[in-house]
Amino acid sequence: MTKPGAPVRVAVLVSGGGTNLQTLLDALHDSPIAQVIRVISNRPNAGALQRARRAGVPTTVLRDANDPAELQAALGNARLVVLAGYLKLVPAAVVARFRGRMINIHPALLPAFGGPGMYGRRVHEAVLASGAKESGATVHVVDEAFDRGKIIAQEKVRVEPGDTPDTLASRVLEAEHRLLPQVVLDLARRMA
Ligand code: GRF
Repeated sequence: MTKPGAPVRVAVLVSGGGTNLQTLLDALHDSPIAQVIRVISNRPNAGALQRARRAGVPTTVLRDANDPAELQAALGNARLVVLAGYLKLVPAAVVARFRGRMINIHPALLPAFGGPGMYGRRVHEAVLASGAKESGATVHVVDEAFDRGKIIAQEKVRVEPGDTPDTLASRVLEAEHRLLPQVVLDLARRMA
């Protein structure tokens, strides 16, 4: 439980460069509502870890991301868990402990273009190949399967004529950067 008036403790799971993490670090800097207390990665060379260290946030590199005990220990007394470019499936025991308090951001309008193997450039290639007129960002609750949990919020992005996977990805990433801090602050306000 959060001490009355204390910011909600947020842990962030990352595997990549960490631009979504950076938007959270910037949005929650000095926030009375929520604080990033730890950044956890399955990759020791993830650029996101350097962003955390620059912000003075403790980091953990998992030896075995499939080990629920190791991940539970790393999450410590976090109350809200955010997956921001984390590419591993979270062990079921950890999902159960954080049921409804663990969220993920995905660069497409779920339930389409999600699931195992659907991450990064592949997502945008699939959207363009489908001829879809719009794509976007989705924040959803994490459950025992990739990208299947209850959708919390989405922001739509139009697919423009001549779009490449890279041009679409960069406009979707801008939408992600707007959506994720909003959802985290909303959830934290309700948890406080
Ligand atoms: C983002 O598009 C996110 O939706 C996806 O991985 C990408 C990570 O970007 N899961 P970053 O590491 O936050 O820059």
